[in-house]
Amino acid sequence: MSIIKDASLAPSGIKKIEWVKSYMPVLSAIGERFKKERPFEGMKIAMSIHLEAKTAYLALTLAAGGAKVYATGCNPLSTQDDIAAALVTLGIDTFAIHGANEEEYTAHLTETLSCKPDIIIDDGGDFVAILHGSSPELAENLRGGCEETTTGVARLAARDKAGKLNFPMFAVNNAKCKHLFDNRHGTGQSVWDAIMNTTNCLIAGKKVVVAGYGFCGRGVALRAKGLGANVIICEADPFRALEAYAEGYSVMSMDEASSEGDIFVTTTGCRDIITKRHFEKMKDGVLLTNAGHFDCEINKVDLKALSVDVEVRKPNIEGYRMADGRILNLLGEGRLVNLAAGNGHPAEIMDLSFAVQALMMEYIARLPEIPEASLYEVPAEIDKLVASEKLSASGITIDNLTEEQETYLKSW
Ligand SMILES: NC(=O)c1ccc[n+]([C@@H]2O[C@H](COP(=O)([O-])OP(=O)(O)OC[C@H]3O[C@@H](n4cnc5c(N)ncnc54)[C@H](O)[C@@H]3O)[C@@H](O)[C@H]2O)c1
Repeated sequence: MSIIKDASLAPSGIKKIEWVKSYMPVLSAIGERFKKERPFEGMKIAMSIHLEAKTAYLALTLAAGGAKVYATGCNPLSTQDDIAAALVTLGIDTFAIHGANEEEYTAHLTETLSCKPDIIIDDGGDFVAILHGSSPELAENLRGGCEETTTGVARLAARDKAGKLNFPMFAVNNAKCKHLFDNRHGTGQSVWDAIMNTTNCLIAGKKVVVAGYGFCGRGVALRAKGLGANVIICEADPFRALEAYAEGYSVMSMDEASSEGDIFVTTTGCRDIITKRHFEKMKDGVLLTNAGHFDCEINKVDLKALSVDVEVRKPNIEGYRMADGRILNLLGEGRLVNLAAGNGHPAEIMDLSFAVQALMMEYIARLPEIPEASLYEVPAEIDKLVASEKLSASGITIDNLTEEQETYLKSW
């Protein structure tokens, strides 16, 4: 059984999946091996992750390895209905509709988990929240799972520290092959792709305010600089603020930046980065966008309360008119702009992230014993293997240390 918008959209979704496949050679090679070895025979894998073409290809790769896969989204605006339809046609039970309300979204997640999975993939921690809150019985067969993003890992670490994590979870986000490329270069490109496509605005010469100079923020800032913007960084961590300064960016508080910026991008994973006192100072026509996991970085309650009128100006752009006539433009309802108003990261980048996910699914499936409930890192060999395979698929050779060099590096 599945819950999707419209099964007739499948042909468009299948074409999108076919397109990304050719840019994901590492995942494809893993899929070929899975087909022969069937590491997931008899197992159920439930995934909650942005439901677009690259994710669909991951689901199909796991299914090729013998898993019965159940898929849902991790944000109602990032679900692509044609991809959901394609997945159903290709044999994956799917529960996701673009634009679902909060209640429907949670029902879709719970429905996906009702298969009582052996392994889960979570993105942001909503699956884990359900398995510890409303429906803990759905975790009865669970061997463990993987978390895709920074925010989800932060939530897991807090739960683990409090002794409240009931099963093992692996922090895929922390693998080098994930955050160094997906968070930085993936978000860096896809955020600007989404902003430019949605608004048709010029970036050159604009003042772009990036809140958070973490892995995502530095990618967004770097690409904005490359497009000719004047980039301002807002940070709470003194080291990262200093790094941004040393890398040539203007650094200031959001209180100062709010009257300067033309385009705002939040990438902190924290809440209330842009609030009432900032909106009050902003220029007419600013673009407000968020690339952090949850839609709490730009305070929409404050924005609504200050506005006398809200108008949909273009798809994915709501104009909030202030009492003094200024219009502040919010993109993608303040949800991750690159997924809510774009196509997500480039396929070549997701090849790395999803190769790690696929190998971690196999690692969990093959564990002789279920480890103690805790948050674990991805084994370094898996991370290194994915990096080496990506280099080789890209036709790049690198130097190998000689025995003498290894000895030299380890000697005193
Ligand atoms: N849009 C996407 O496709 C995408 C991809 C990967 C990660 N993410 C999400 O983006 C967010 C950031 O991820 P990351 O990997 O860059 O995290 P990170 O921890 O590397 O960086 C976050 C930065 O924000 C700063 N920060 C936190 N609170 C702040 C505040 N109140 N004011 C100013 N700065 C503050 C931190 O000091 C840190 O430097 C997370 O929510 C993550 O889940 C989104």
